[in-house]
Amino acid sequence: MVARRFLLAIVALAFGGLFLGAGQENPTPPKEVTYNRDVAPILYKNCVVCHRPNNIAPMSLMTYKETRPWARLIREAVVQRKMPPWHADPNVGEYLNDPRLSDVDISTIDAWFRTGTKEGDARDLPPAPVFGEGWHINPDIVFPIPEFMVSGASQDEYEYIYVPTNFTEDKWVQAAEVLPGDRRVVHHATVSVIEADKVAKKEEENKGSNAGVDKYHYRTGKVLHLRQDAPVVDDGCSYPTGGGVPGKESGYVNIVPGIYLPGHLAETRPSGYALRIPAGAYLQFQIHYSNHTSEDVKDRTSIGLVFAKEPVKHEIAQYEIWNDLFLIPPNDENHRVTSCYTLPKDVIALAYTGHMHFRGKSMKTEAIYPDGHHEVIMNVPHYDFRWQETYFLKKQFLMPKGTKLVTTAYFDNSVNNAQNPDPSRALRWGEPSDEEMMGFWLQFADPKPVDEKPAVAHK
Ligand code: HEC
Repeated sequence: MVARRFLLAIVALAFGGLFLGAGQENPTPPKEVTYNRDVAPILYKNCVVCHRPNNIAPMSLMTYKETRPWARLIREAVVQRKMPPWHADPNVGEYLNDPRLSDVDISTIDAWFRTGTKEGDARDLPPAPVFGEGWHINPDIVFPIPEFMVSGASQDEYEYIYVPTNFTEDKWVQAAEVLPGDRRVVHHATVSVIEADKVAKKEEENKGSNAGVDKYHYRTGKVLHLRQDAPVVDDGCSYPTGGGVPGKESGYVNIVPGIYLPGHLAETRPSGYALRIPAGAYLQFQIHYSNHTSEDVKDRTSIGLVFAKEPVKHEIAQYEIWNDLFLIPPNDENHRVTSCYTLPKDVIALAYTGHMHFRGKSMKTEAIYPDGHHEVIMNVPHYDFRWQETYFLKKQFLMPKGTKLVTTAYFDNSVNNAQNPDPSRALRWGEPSDEEMMGFWLQFADPKPVDEKPAVAHK
């Protein structure tokens, strides 16, 4: 008996751990692993959302023919858990949109590779998933910007474009995705909701070359930077504003149905939670264009919205919390920056996003609750500018008024950081990606149920 189990263990080992951990007396004999029956379903479910023609990944994995040449790299990418991309520490928090493969799926791909990447019987192949052109969701409605010409002469511009929704009633948005018109020039795009009567004022502000320019900022062309002589505060938590420029708190509320950032997919909020777009509101597209093609490029970025199909209980908004006063010295490979913000009201925590630029190395946020206990709520140990994910909590929870959110980021401004455009530069806050930012965003919901309150704007 013992000998037989020992033998089975050897067999299991020989198959790359495929049957390890099953713990059975008599595991089924190892069957042949084929693309059609075993591998395609894994790729369809976990990979082709990006790995299909004209999407963000460099190659399509929709068919056997397309997949076969990549088998070795696919095996490596999944065994090392480089794919699907995910940067949250698996030991901190559980997330709804965690795309990591199960150990069984990894073993299957591993075994497929080791046993000769067989195609198998065509009758085993499940139907391929169908996607809308470019979209990762199926929008109920799409709002494109009017065609915008991005001049070949410009390298970094923030454009503000206002698109009317013409909604005749309040609408609840469950999921949203911002689709760049031309990925060569759209560096990022944030879409926020602006009530109709505020649009004229906003447009005026953004037209003027002084928009957002106070005594701590200056502008070159259409982008903002922090002045070199602004106070230097790396430890925002030791400063009265928590990291904001003097007189301005580190955190504020923004209503953002959708954002496009490198590696950021569509956002689908848990059922019962949705964002409200009031009747008649406008969508403000803040688009960061960066044209390195040296020719004029036309862009029509759009946002797709999926309306809530189930009753909405709680309305969503977002705190954006920043340190805007740091100074990262040249060649510093581990520069620490913090921000602090104390919640002015009870909220239900829904999702976290960390935002830095190329020098971002890691980010961790700790919540210190009014009763004194504290916990790390988000940890991104290896931040990657190319993969800026939003982490949606599996279990939403109440963060009481008075909870202090302490975010600690590290920046690598050394030559060791392969993405660093210039280690010899000292860096302060700036909109261009080759300057820096340090932001933690908390998507939250109002704990007060929607039907108990009148439809009013957030404060
Ligand atoms: C969210 C989108 C996305 C998903 C989901 C995704 N990939 Fe990728 N993948 C990319 C992008 C973008 C790249 C190229 C940039 C990079 O390597 O980070 C890439 C690169 C790769 C590479 C090339 C790595 C190399 O060394 O050249 C392989 C192999 C790969 N993916 C396999 C997979 C497999 C297998 C899955 C599913 C288990 C998967 N990917 C899921 C977006 C994705």
